[in-house]
Amino acid sequence: MGKGKLSGQRALVTGASSGIGAELARELARHGADLVLVARRKERLEALAEELSTAHGVDVAVEAADLMDADARARLFAATEQAGRPVDVLVNNAGFGAYEAVLGSTWEELDGMLELNVRALTHLTRLFAEAMVARGRGRIMNIASTGAYMACPDFAVYTAGKAYVRNFTEALDFELKGSGVRAIAICPGGTRTEFLEHANQVLKPGSSLAMMSASRCARISVKKMLRGRRTVVTGWLNVLAVTVMRFLPRCMIPWLANALMKSGVEKGTKQVTAAAG
Ligand SMILES: NC(=O)c1ccc[n+]([C@@H]2O[C@H](COP(=O)([O-])OP(=O)(O)OC[C@H]3O[C@@H](n4cnc5c(N)ncnc54)[C@H](OP(=O)(O)O)[C@@H]3O)[C@@H](O)[C@H]2O)c1
Repeated sequence: MGKGKLSGQRALVTGASSGIGAELARELARHGADLVLVARRKERLEALAEELSTAHGVDVAVEAADLMDADARARLFAATEQAGRPVDVLVNNAGFGAYEAVLGSTWEELDGMLELNVRALTHLTRLFAEAMVARGRGRIMNIASTGAYMACPDFAVYTAGKAYVRNFTEALDFELKGSGVRAIAICPGGTRTEFLEHANQVLKPGSSLAMMSASRCARISVKKMLRGRRTVVTGWLNVLAVTVMRFLPRCMIPWLANALMKSGVEKGTKQVTAAAG
């Protein structure tokens, strides 16, 4: 068993095969949590499981699943909670964006973002929160985005979905008062992961300096979760950006969000890949 504040607890991390999810798994293992790693790319999950069980002496299980499939989500619940492996910390991290205008996107692309970023997150939260409340303890970490604070052109469905994640999580945390279960919305800004490539975004020269590392994002997220925060924007630059957005007249937000986005990235030439797997 690992040693740390989460020793003896089990954390399930979705989207643990890369980026923020993999770093959240590393950070949770560093705090002593046993893990269930979930994503589609099983080999990557197995490599991470090996790394973390060796480094931290924690128990790590791998569950390959396409979370766009509601039945796969139910099977994940059955393979953990219903199989006597309770989940104390649920991290809904799996997600993707597609950088394209609404009318430049197919319905399948838009529906994929809604299915994974919104419906899967809500479904898993609903399933696991009930079991946590019955035990009188648990944590749910939902990964939103600074996009939750802005209506961003060419990212309309993605940012609207992240606004949903933030509002849903904040309301849920309030509903859970007194149950022993807490929910936290994490709002990262630009973070160096595979996200950009999948979103068909290419960083402009010099903009990578403004990007946070996934490990720093994960460190902040777990620290704030353990402190019992309800919403966290990762890093002072991102806090500054969302603070400006909060005080602007709403009509200016799409304009500023568009300008900010275009100052950092341009559209690539590929098709969005995350939805396809
Ligand atoms: N990077 C950023 O700048 C940034 C900023 C704000 C918020 N976020 C949010 O942070 C979260 C993590 O993104 P990231 O930046 O770490 O991107 P990433 O490196 O592309 O990781 C995305 C993860 O989601 C998993 N995933 C994608 N589709 C899936 C599906 N159908 N079923 C199961 N798992 C699936 C991927 O695994 P498989 O492909 O193996 O299934 C991968 O592990 C997302 O919710 C994203 O919206 C990212």
